[in-house]
Amino acid sequence: MPAKIIDGKAIASEIREDIKREVDAVKKEKGIIPGLAVVLVGEDPASQTYVRNKEKACQKVGMYSEVYRLPAETTQEKVLAVVDELNQNPKIHGILVQLPLPDHIDEKAVINAINPDKDVDGFHPVNVGKLYIGDPGFVPCTPNGVIELLERSGVAIKGKEAVVVGRSNIVGKPVAQLLLARHATVTICHSRTSDLASHTRRAEILVVATGRAKMITGDMVKEGAVVIDVGVNRVDGKLVGDVDFDAASQRASAITPVPGGVGPMTITMLLKNTLQAAQ
Ligand code: GUN
Repeated sequence: MPAKIIDGKAIASEIREDIKREVDAVKKEKGIIPGLAVVLVGEDPASQTYVRNKEKACQKVGMYSEVYRLPAETTQEKVLAVVDELNQNPKIHGILVQLPLPDHIDEKAVINAINPDKDVDGFHPVNVGKLYIGDPGFVPCTPNGVIELLERSGVAIKGKEAVVVGRSNIVGKPVAQLLLARHATVTICHSRTSDLASHTRRAEILVVATGRAKMITGDMVKEGAVVIDVGVNRVDGKLVGDVDFDAASQRASAITPVPGGVGPMTITMLLKNTLQAAQ
């Protein structure tokens, strides 16, 4: 039987309705308008699109937003000064510095400069540490979105064999922590894993975030698995995931499409974190 499609667009829009209601409530009860500042350095077209989408998403749920568009040659000192100003700005509850930054800017120095209480990306070492030890803090948006998709699709995580392919700080590592915190047995695989298929074939929950188009073939998926494809790759002008969707959906019990799976959840979780920061 072909897999059930996990509709990220529909789930994201449901959550955004809830967020909109909560934003209205915070405005009424506390007189606070949740505010997000996005800092974009340079003219990378993909980053420009992401930033525009974040701005629009804020408007739709009634949040306040500011975008700082800085030229590519902006010095690190200037970027740090902007971050510092935003740390002090009472209208701003969440700060996001769009990555990647130009090569002459030290990404870690910029992330470390963000007040952890405004770090809605969940990239500051304080929030990374909190996630690791299970304390409340800001959880990175895409990993948070993966967990929401599983939970809202009724997938039980506790006791499950979960395999994460990819070990980035933005997706692989935090997703593994979140699954572990929900009592899955977690394996993290990566580019140096020998016999990747022997691991993925054991997975009852398979999360793939490698940035390599269709690298997970149908035969690498366990019968009945839930497959979450975080990848977004452009092949011949078309967006495809890291999973061969057509083949994998013949074996999986549920699977996310690309586009329309994890993608719409990322900005939604950013809105959720910004609301949390304001509250
Ligand atoms: N660039 C690509 N994804 C992200 C993200 O989640 N946060 C930031 N700040 N930059 C990104």
